[in-house]
Parts: sequence; structure tokens; C-alpha cells
Amino acid sequence: MPGQHDSTVVAVDGPAAAGKTTTCRALAKSFDLRYLESGRTYRIIAFEALQREIPVGNAQEITELCDELIVESRSAELLTSERYASDKLRAAPVNVAVSAVARIADVRRRVTSLIRLWAETQTRCVIEGRDIGTTIFPKAPLKFFLTATPEVRALRRVRQEHADTYENVLKDVIRRDEADMSRAASPLVAAEDAIRIDTSELTLDQVVSRMSSACRKRGLETSR
Ligand code: DC
Repeated sequence: MPGQHDSTVVAVDGPAAAGKTTTCRALAKSFDLRYLESGRTYRIIAFEALQREIPVGNAQEITELCDELIVESRSAELLTSERYASDKLRAAPVNVAVSAVARIADVRRRVTSLIRLWAETQTRCVIEGRDIGTTIFPKAPLKFFLTATPEVRALRRVRQEHADTYENVLKDVIRRDEADMSRAASPLVAAEDAIRIDTSELTLDQVVSRMSSACRKRGLETSR
């Protein structure tokens, strides 16, 4: 049943480059949680669409591609597939194509089911994305919504990846915010019961420390 396993999930949502991945990995380590980066699945579909020259604006063809990938990788294993190198999934053309893929309601439904299936097999986990605490696990006992100004997020990305100029990265961050927030299917929005953290003026350690203290308050035990 959808949502049945909400009790095992820590949901972490927020816009691109708000620090979700780094903080989730730190939480996963401290609290012995399995970690899932849900955006990776949308990136895999976008990457395969580009490889196979399927237009990402064609909802029906992209949904068929999604079904094919699910069958090929034996269902929820698509979420954690190691066939795809992260640098390929994070390349600029994928960054652009992924917004169009993530807008397709039929694709979102399929990815939602896969994530719920995956979570059923975990004792407890932390999942990052855009709609984890709102749509996929609305009853998750612990939800975070991380934000930061577009300028801070762009600067962090440039410093981490050295892949592009600040101006180009800022444009991409703003474009993705707009795409994530304006789509009809599961737009990016904070769940009412999410703990909001504006990370603009915080160090990574400070963000992790706030999140960890909320985890402890909700009864999660540290692994060390
Ligand atoms: O987290 P990320 O930047 O790797 O996500 C890639 C894209 O996938 C992003 O443009 C938004 C989309 N996404 C989504 O719509 N829902 C999720 N749960 C995760 C990501």
C-alpha cells in the first residue's frame, strides 16, 4: 500500500544545489540509514533519452523508455543502478533534459512506485528529492526542506565541480528552480510539517548538526 512504510523514511527535499546530497550522506553515516538520491533516476531516464535520440518533450515515448529501463534493470534496481557514472548523469545536456523528463506525470508515477518499493525493503532510510515529503512519503515522521539563495547555490556548485562559469551555473539553477516549482505534477514545495533550513549562511557542519539534532529528538539513534 502506498505510504505504508513512511515510518522508516527521513525525507529531504529542496531546490537544486541546496546541499541535500552532502548532508544526506552525512546523516546516513551517523544514523545508519540507507541513502537514496531520487533525482538520479530522472537523470538516468534523461541520459538514455539523449543517447537514443528520443525527444524529451515526447511524453509517450519517454514513458515507454522508462518502462523499458524498469524491465531491463529488474524494477527498483533502476534506482541504484551502477551502470551510470555520476559525471555523465551530471553533464550539462542532462541537466537541461532532466527537467522535461521530470515534468511527465506518467514517469513520476512510475518513479514514485519504484521508490516506495525500494523503501519497503529498508529498515530505515534517508531519501532526497523534490517531492519525497509531499507526494511519495507524506507521512514520513521526519522531513527537511533545505533552501539557499540561488547565488549561494550557484557559487557552491562552481566551487565543487569547477565545470562551468558562475554566470552559466546561476542561470541553470534559476531555470531549474522555475521548472521544478511550476510543473503541474508534484511541483517543488515544502511540506507543511517539514523542518525548513536556509543554508545560505550556514556551513555544512552546521546544517548537518541541526538535522542530526532533529533526528535525535525524533528518536533516531546514532550508529556510533
Ligand atoms: O536532485 P537532482 O538535481 O539530481 O534532480 C534532477 C532533476 O530531477 C531535477 O531537475 C528535479 C528532478 N527531480 C524531481 O522532479 N523529483 C525528485 N524527487 C528528484 C528530482
